[in-house]
Amino acid sequence: MLTLGMNYSQMHDSSACLVRDGELVFAVAEERISRVKHDARFPQSAIRACLDFARIKPEQLDEVCFGWQVPGAAFRHDLKCYASGKMPATYTNGLNSTLYFLSMWHQGGGARRFTQIFGTTKARMRFVDHHLAHALSAYSYSGFDDAAVVVMDGRGAREATSLWHGRDGRIEHVLTIPFPDSIGYFYSEFTEYLGFQRNSDEWKVMGLAPYGKPGVDLRAFIEPEAAPYEVHARKLVANGAAPFQEMVRLFGPRRVPESEIDERHKDVAYAVQDACELAMMSVVKMAIEKTKSRNLCLAGGVALNSKANGKIAASGLIDKIFVQPAASDDGVALGAALAPYLDKGGRLPMKVMRHAYLGPDFDDQPIESALRTYKLKYTRLSDAAVSAAELLSNGKILGWFQGRMEFGPRALGSRSILADPRDPEMNAKVNNAVKFREWWRPFAPSLKKEAAGEFLESASDSPFMILTAQVRPEKRAVIPAVTHVDGSARPQTVEKDVNPLYWRLIDEFGRRTGVPVIMNTSFNLRGEAIVHTPTDALRTFFSSGMDALVIGSFLVEK
Ligand SMILES: [Fe+2]
Repeated sequence: MLTLGMNYSQMHDSSACLVRDGELVFAVAEERISRVKHDARFPQSAIRACLDFARIKPEQLDEVCFGWQVPGAAFRHDLKCYASGKMPATYTNGLNSTLYFLSMWHQGGGARRFTQIFGTTKARMRFVDHHLAHALSAYSYSGFDDAAVVVMDGRGAREATSLWHGRDGRIEHVLTIPFPDSIGYFYSEFTEYLGFQRNSDEWKVMGLAPYGKPGVDLRAFIEPEAAPYEVHARKLVANGAAPFQEMVRLFGPRRVPESEIDERHKDVAYAVQDACELAMMSVVKMAIEKTKSRNLCLAGGVALNSKANGKIAASGLIDKIFVQPAASDDGVALGAALAPYLDKGGRLPMKVMRHAYLGPDFDDQPIESALRTYKLKYTRLSDAAVSAAELLSNGKILGWFQGRMEFGPRALGSRSILADPRDPEMNAKVNNAVKFREWWRPFAPSLKKEAAGEFLESASDSPFMILTAQVRPEKRAVIPAVTHVDGSARPQTVEKDVNPLYWRLIDEFGRRTGVPVIMNTSFNLRGEAIVHTPTDALRTFFSSGMDALVIGSFLVEK
């Protein structure tokens, strides 16, 4: 069976993936190809990439699965929210809901767009409930037979948080907390109030939080420890006439984007992150109680909160945790594509996800052709890992472009910028010369899995950089560039048999320096999507202060 999974809600992060006989073959977000960050348009380039990779034609597909409900479901829920007073029935809100409905209806939820672009197909078009798609994307790749599954995001058509029980390759719905009682919505509203972009910059708030101090009272907006938590959505709404009215009344004016960060902003960020962690913890407790399982699967945009995930992992409440690396909406494609397997009492394929290298690949031939096209000087390397390790140990900031692109928001050693984590100045150097990003956002370490216990207090198995862990106090001065102000790090543990080239690079760096840890950040400039093609990589390399680029078997230096 060939199934195409898709995220297309017109909200953010459109994507597509291909599953063949239960095996996830390929996955890519539209943004990587279109170069429009969080691209919410119909994922036609991503679909094309799926088909090209597998060398199949659209008419060969058996199922086309959308990770979003049929048009009308969100609209009906919105109307209920306005009628019950849960959301303000303003002109703007009503208009937005109506326009959204009409747009999706006109496109048949994406099905009509699909046939317009790819022709008629025998494939069945299927609309999978958004949270079910998230839940499947976490449970079926977790490797757990029995698991509590928690989905938390901004919203589905009607859901904000949902609990599921995965058992024997099947999944049962346990509970839904409907929108607008939404942690994702709460976090996004405050992200915007703090002068950042919603559905994109939430992790800037998370990174800023440790610089703040307790004291900001958010009880007007959220009761995080109630079971279940409660969000007072009416207070959050950015009304057209008086945006962020309640926040402005309590905490002062909204921060102007790009303006200075002051103590007040840090303290609000601290409180928002704290409330999010408490709410997540209370939902996880409820999930464990209801399912009696101590294996936890997480998905949904809120599950990108690596800080909260790390605390859950270290809480002692659970035995094992799997956070699907594309936890946000790009990842619903993975779950939607598996929904057909549940038909007629069927079971999910239950393949463990050990890596996220699911995207396009470029071998040396197209890379060399790009280098020649731009008339660049380059050398062919006999061993890319050794050369890269040598450059890094000499303090160089390195672009690293190898193998299949990662699926999900993190660079995990395929499309990465690498540097020496021992240099206390390296964070500032990379920030200023390469990433041009905010001073408070921490960089993450990639380390050999074998060395995790030596450097970290927990999270010895963290292949996706989606759980934070505390760096051992005696090691914080050893890897200062990847240790956050509160002593935490967001590690990627690299396994030799999963990514041999990247593992060897870290190993070689360790042999030279005694520290088998490197600084790894995504290969992009601030505000841009992670690089996809060799040309993207070269353009980014020459638009930044990187010293060298190891791309396939080639080295480009400045
Ligand atoms: Fe979602």
